[in-house]
Amino acid sequence: MPESAKLNCGDVELDLPVIEGTENEKALDVSQLRRETGLITLDEGYVNTGSTRSAITFLNGEQGILRYRGYAIEDLAQNCDFVEVCYLLIYGDLPNGEQLAEFRSAIHSHTMLHEDMRMFYDGFPRDAHPMAILSSVVSAMSTFYQDALDPANPEHVEICIHRLIAKLPTIAAYSYKKSIGQPFIYPENDLTYCENFLRMMFAVPCEPYEIDPDFVTALNMLLIVHADHEQNCSTSTVRMVGSSNANLFASIAAGVCALWGPLHGGANEAVVNMLTQIMEDDGDVEKYVAMAKDKEHGFRLMGFGHRVYKNFDPRARIIKAACDRLLDKMNIDDPLFHIAQQLEEVALRDEYFVSRKLYPNVDFYSGVIYRAIGIPVPMFTVLFAMGRLPGWIAHWKEMHASKNKRICRPRQVYTGENIREFVELSDR
Ligand code: CMC
Repeated sequence: MPESAKLNCGDVELDLPVIEGTENEKALDVSQLRRETGLITLDEGYVNTGSTRSAITFLNGEQGILRYRGYAIEDLAQNCDFVEVCYLLIYGDLPNGEQLAEFRSAIHSHTMLHEDMRMFYDGFPRDAHPMAILSSVVSAMSTFYQDALDPANPEHVEICIHRLIAKLPTIAAYSYKKSIGQPFIYPENDLTYCENFLRMMFAVPCEPYEIDPDFVTALNMLLIVHADHEQNCSTSTVRMVGSSNANLFASIAAGVCALWGPLHGGANEAVVNMLTQIMEDDGDVEKYVAMAKDKEHGFRLMGFGHRVYKNFDPRARIIKAACDRLLDKMNIDDPLFHIAQQLEEVALRDEYFVSRKLYPNVDFYSGVIYRAIGIPVPMFTVLFAMGRLPGWIAHWKEMHASKNKRICRPRQVYTGENIREFVELSDR
């Protein structure tokens, strides 16, 4: 591969340097393009655009590789605790015992919500979507911790990180309790991250609650496989908002909103709704595959396809295997799991899906596990957000530490009216 590419534009000949990453992926550096030629690049949906250099996550969509800080997702999902993975993503290395104990203890000291923050929940309608509650309450954290919001102050950033990781499960569980009219359950710091979340979700003050270790294992794995995915829509949003020097809470709240959409994290909720619809429609899988292929219809198979993965999504493989294990162990015969499997089989041999390289993605089977754990459907994307939080934080931090940091401000090709003469209201 040459070190640069030549661009001829009128009288100007420009050398565009080829930048190479540590895994040999290559990019054309167009940073001098406009200055030298007056041109900008146009790449709607950023399909060919690298927005940054990043040392956090490597993924290869052709080979189905996903690594956090150099570690294979398969190894991390099998061997780690989610809090260890948070540390890895945010600080760059797996923690030793002492570092992990210190990190856990910092998180434990922030798990409760300020009592006034609980009041917000009185104001939300009972059927409010928990993603709306999550983004609102995270955004509101910047009103409670005004003395520690400076993105340039490492101590402020550190305490914001601890507060976010500690409080997200509490905020999430309270939104569920609000929706069913049960009292909020305070966090219990002797428990692990996942145990604590399950207890806050499902315990009630009047009865003992036993935490199922299989649920803990499944939840821990799900949080880990969702923890980062380089420059996806929500992470790019966090970086974009953070690039204006908005505080970390504001940036993460924006990320939650971006994740909510059904083409991104909201797909896990949409998958289960779609599978339920197919089940209620006599399980007619072929009909829905045909609908997905019909462009007039506008229907998509939720949980299928990915911008980057064009072979298989390694996260989907891990989740499907865990799903098999959990349902088997719990002796659950979930009709939605059967429909999901049939859908996958039909789609994987259908020319439409094969030629477009559309495979089940991370959201396709995760909902089946969430259902088995008892997580209600509207909470699915909230769990995705809990998992993605350390990735968002790691990218926000990396961006601020970069000497190349500039406000993210894309350009456009204007296609509107040319200058028009102003017409008085009475003459229009
Ligand atoms: N069902 C039917 N057709 C599809 C699907 C689908 N799920 N996904 C893509 N296509 C078709 C699309 O119509 C297009 O066909 P053609 O070339 O004939 O116009 C072709 O495949 C390429 O699709 P695209 O929309 O240009 O691809 P993209 O990279 O812009 O979009 C995607 C990626 C994930 C948004 C898309 O595949 C999709 O909408 N999938 C369903 C939603 C989903 O599961 N989202 C979760 C993504 S993974 C987790 C995450 O990132 O949050």
